[in-house]
Amino acid sequence: MPGRVEGKVAFITGAGRGQGRSHAVRLAGEGADIIAVDICHDVEGALPMATPADLAETVKLVEAQDRRIVATQADVRDLDGLVAAVDAGVEQFGRLDIVVANAGVASIGGRADKMKVENWKHTIDINLTGLFNTARAAIPHLIAGGRGGSIVLTSSVGGMHAMADMSHYVSAKHGVIGLMRSLAVELGQHHIRVNSVLPTNVNTPMFMNEGTFKMFRPDLENPTATDVEPIAAQFMHVLPRGWIEPEDVSNAVLFLACDESRYITGVPLPIDLGALLK
Ligand SMILES: NC(=O)c1ccc[n+]([C@@H]2O[C@H](COP(=O)([O-])OP(=O)(O)OC[C@H]3O[C@@H](n4cnc5c(N)ncnc54)[C@H](O)[C@@H]3O)[C@@H](O)[C@H]2O)c1
Repeated sequence: MPGRVEGKVAFITGAGRGQGRSHAVRLAGEGADIIAVDICHDVEGALPMATPADLAETVKLVEAQDRRIVATQADVRDLDGLVAAVDAGVEQFGRLDIVVANAGVASIGGRADKMKVENWKHTIDINLTGLFNTARAAIPHLIAGGRGGSIVLTSSVGGMHAMADMSHYVSAKHGVIGLMRSLAVELGQHHIRVNSVLPTNVNTPMFMNEGTFKMFRPDLENPTATDVEPIAAQFMHVLPRGWIEPEDVSNAVLFLACDESRYITGVPLPIDLGALLK
C-alpha cells in the first residue's frame, strides 16, 4: 500500500532532535523524502540545542525508512542560509510539497521588567521570524510546483494561552497563529494549505530539563520528571497525563501534511490533553 505522503518532499526545520526528528521519521515512514535543517549549535541564554551528531542520527533514521534526506546546518534566523538549504534539496529531489516550520527555542524568561532583552529578541527572531523565513524560502517552490502543498507551523498552547514569566515565548507563539492565518489567505488560491499545531508539554529536551522541573516543583531541591507528572496533569490538563510524546504531534503533522486534510486550512490544532479547556 502506498504511504500517506508517498513520493512527496518535506522541508523540516529543527530536525536534529525532538519533535522535528520525529516528524522527519514519521513522514519518511509514509513515503516522503526529507530536506532537514537544524542550527546544531547553542544560542546564549537559551537551552542547549541539537548537535551535528544529533542531525546525523536523524539522517540515519530517515534512511532506515528507505527514504532520502538532505540535511544542512542552518539557522532559521538566516534567510539566505534557509533559501540555500531548500534550493539544494529541491534540486536533488525535484519538488517540494510539505513544509514543517518546527524549529524553536525556550529561553530563560522572567517578569517583563526583569527579562533579559536579548532573550526577548532571540526568542522572537527564532520562534516567529524564523517561521516567516522558513515559509518565505519554501513558498516559491510550492507555487512553482503547481501541485498545491501543505505548510504546518509549530505554535504551542502558549499560542492561545497566557503563561507567566514567558512573555517572549507566548508572544512569538501567538504571532505564529497570526502568520499561519495570513499565509492561509495568501496561498489558498494556489491550493497551498497552512495550518498550525499547538502542543502542550512534549517529552523532548525542551520540556524534560532541570529548569522546567524546578518551575513545577519549587518546593523540591532536586525534582524529577516523576515529581512533575501529577502536578502538570492536575493543573494543566483535562486528560490525566503530564505530557505527550513527539509522535503524538507527528501524527497531527502527518494528517495536516497529507491529502486526508485537503480542505482544511487556517486551523490552529491543539494536541494538548485538553489544556486549552482550562
Ligand atoms: N517541548 C515542549 O514542551 C513544546 C511544547 C509546545 C511547543 N513546542 C515547540 O515545538 C517545537 C519543537 O521543539 P521540541 O519540543 O522538539 O524541542 P527541542 O529543543 O528538542 O528541539 C528544537 C530543535 O530546534 C532546533 N533549533 C532551535 N533554534 C534553531 C534555529 N535558530 N535554527 C534552526 N534550528 C533551530 C534545535 O537545535 C532543536 O533541534 C518548538 O517550536 C517548540 O517551541 C515544544
